[in-house]
Amino acid sequence: MALDKKFENLFLKVSTQAAIASNNFVGKKNKDHADKAAVDAMRSELNNINMKGRVVIGEGELDEAPMLFIGEKLGTMSGPELDIAVDPLEGTKFAAYNLPGALSVISVAEKNNLFNAPETYMNKISANVPNDQIIDLDFTVRKNIHNLADFKNKKPENLTACILNRPRHKEIIDELIKMKVKLKLITDGDVSGALLVTDEKYNVDIFLGIGGGPEGVLAASALDSFNCFFQGRFLFEKDNDKLRAKNMGIEDLNKKYFLNEIVTGDTIFCATGITSGELVSGIKIENNTIITDTLITHKSTGLKKNIKAKQKINAT
Ligand code: FBP
Repeated sequence: MALDKKFENLFLKVSTQAAIASNNFVGKKNKDHADKAAVDAMRSELNNINMKGRVVIGEGELDEAPMLFIGEKLGTMSGPELDIAVDPLEGTKFAAYNLPGALSVISVAEKNNLFNAPETYMNKISANVPNDQIIDLDFTVRKNIHNLADFKNKKPENLTACILNRPRHKEIIDELIKMKVKLKLITDGDVSGALLVTDEKYNVDIFLGIGGGPEGVLAASALDSFNCFFQGRFLFEKDNDKLRAKNMGIEDLNKKYFLNEIVTGDTIFCATGITSGELVSGIKIENNTIITDTLITHKSTGLKKNIKAKQKINAT
């Protein structure tokens, strides 16, 4: 079954309104205010949609309300049963400090088609390659780079690897430097980082490293529409995380997930820019009009494009 095309506009409106709401707090040095504005707008837009929606990837669990929490039910409770993954404000620091790359992100699939995961870290890898052993989370960095270089018919020094600039990635970064691979070290925002492999215009050949698990599931849903490769392995370090994972039905805590084990069936993904980044432009206000830019994908219809939209300020 495919998601009805009418949902494209409806979910586009959800990420757009969340981005606009969050934009009021850009550069105010308060991550929580910017996040809460996006959450509130997202929730109120989602509750207008004729669906029986359930949050499978959200910002924490029940006790952490008023965030959109895992298990929260959304929509008018008539219509199809949908799984919803959200990151109302991806790049909270970017928004708080008015830096490039803050986004509002949502992904939707039919019930039981999006991975239901607790908030933990995930080791991830993505590239625009077919799913046939070119790259793999379990290969060494060296093997992945050599295989990718062979596949792309390039030298390692002509490849670019995107990775979060974190001390935990020292070994990977050192190895990439040794191999003369060009680095793209991002300070935050690895949903965007993972998606930079989707188009040559971004000049990124591989994304790798440890970031948020929810961000991994969101990125995977868009990468599926671009026919890109993605693998992720959740990292359950604390006892509490292990317990939550077990309670969510995850048996093998070390399992390496292929993209189609994280996302199955049809999906709609929307990411609206709050501050301008490489994937999408940020919110612009000109002549009493708000201009937004959203990357939208819909797997079954093949939709993959940026949509610019305008709305009058007094209409919001
Ligand atoms: P927030 O928007 O929740 O602040 O997340 C930003 C982010 O950079 C994610 O894109 C990434 O997955 C995660 O944080 C990495 O976590 P950490 O900063 O702990 O390395």
